[in-house]
Amino acid sequence: MKKISLFFIIILYYMASINAQNADHLFMVGEAIKAPSGHNTQPWLFRISDDAIQILPNYDKSLPVVDPDNRELFISLGCAAENLRIAASHKGYAAALDISEEGIITVNLTKDASVEVDSLFWQIAVRQTNRSIYNGQMVSADTINLLKRVFDESPVNAYFYEKGTAEFDSIANYVVMGNVLQMQDKAFKKELRSWMRFNKKHQDEMNDGLSYAVFGAPNLPKFIVKPILSKAVNEKSQNKGDKKKIASSSHFVLLTTASNTCEEWIKLGIILERFLLKSTRLGIIHAYMNQPNEVSHLSAAMAETLNISDEHPTILLRIGYGEKMPYSKRMPVEKVILNE
Ligand SMILES: Cc1cc2nc3c(=O)[nH]c(=O)nc-3n(C[C@H](O)[C@H](O)[C@H](O)COP(=O)(O)O)c2cc1C
Repeated sequence: MKKISLFFIIILYYMASINAQNADHLFMVGEAIKAPSGHNTQPWLFRISDDAIQILPNYDKSLPVVDPDNRELFISLGCAAENLRIAASHKGYAAALDISEEGIITVNLTKDASVEVDSLFWQIAVRQTNRSIYNGQMVSADTINLLKRVFDESPVNAYFYEKGTAEFDSIANYVVMGNVLQMQDKAFKKELRSWMRFNKKHQDEMNDGLSYAVFGAPNLPKFIVKPILSKAVNEKSQNKGDKKKIASSSHFVLLTTASNTCEEWIKLGIILERFLLKSTRLGIIHAYMNQPNEVSHLSAAMAETLNISDEHPTILLRIGYGEKMPYSKRMPVEKVILNE
């Protein structure tokens, strides 16, 4: 009898520890998907096993027009991987990352009492892309130096261009040229519109895409908002808005890679997310101005102007200070977990 009860106690203990582990894994995936992604496509899938979580590309969510090489897709996976690693530390797991040639990220997890909790964990839910007009306050040189340290020992180069410099103005011109080219491209506009979510009902049905709310638009019936937002997708209004937004910012931050490979894009995503979380902790807000990087001849011309022609400009951000904006939505966790 004693033997049988001991057997049941062991089984119960084993099941409880499996459940706890599953809950930890689900928690980590839940934090991973708070990462940014191009057009908020959330192009990831997760495969959970006992001691690892794999992050796989979901090509159904690719953006063939704006991102034909899936470069921004893999950057987004890198951002998700960094969130996952940070969330793992919060739950007491050491996380070791492995990146395959096809861009599958395996995060190997080991419960380890000596793991140091990453203090950036608390910023995962606070970070947001903020496309508003900023308040014009400059980020101090000391703070910029602090932010630059994120890129120490990283394969990614980061350049900071302060407002008022010739380089800042040149980059602003490349953004304008990028808008002109992209807004003249019917396929680009069609793809962008297909990811716009026009009111609360539409946003809550889809849980992805670019919501009316993050652009500061009111929640109105779709038949009113759709033509207004769709009409705003043109070079004139885009450039008018972007010029104001750029003028209200403090710096451009340009991230480059050396050889434009899938592994580098993922590594760039990892360091980008760290940079975004660290700047969020410092009260700095950010938005992407990636237009010049998305048009290959503009990207090459911009690199030449900035004297970095042997590098690939990959992510361009503006940073500064301002008010918070509404948060964008995410798919429920169970929709991104592979059940095989
Ligand atoms: C690789 C990458 C490229 C992006 N490019 C742009 C861009 O050019 N313009 C823009 O407004 N947002 C861009 N974004 C921001 C996404 O639209 C944003 O992350 C997404 O809508 C989710 O919102 P959140 O960052 O506030 O969570 C980009 C994000 C990533 C990861």
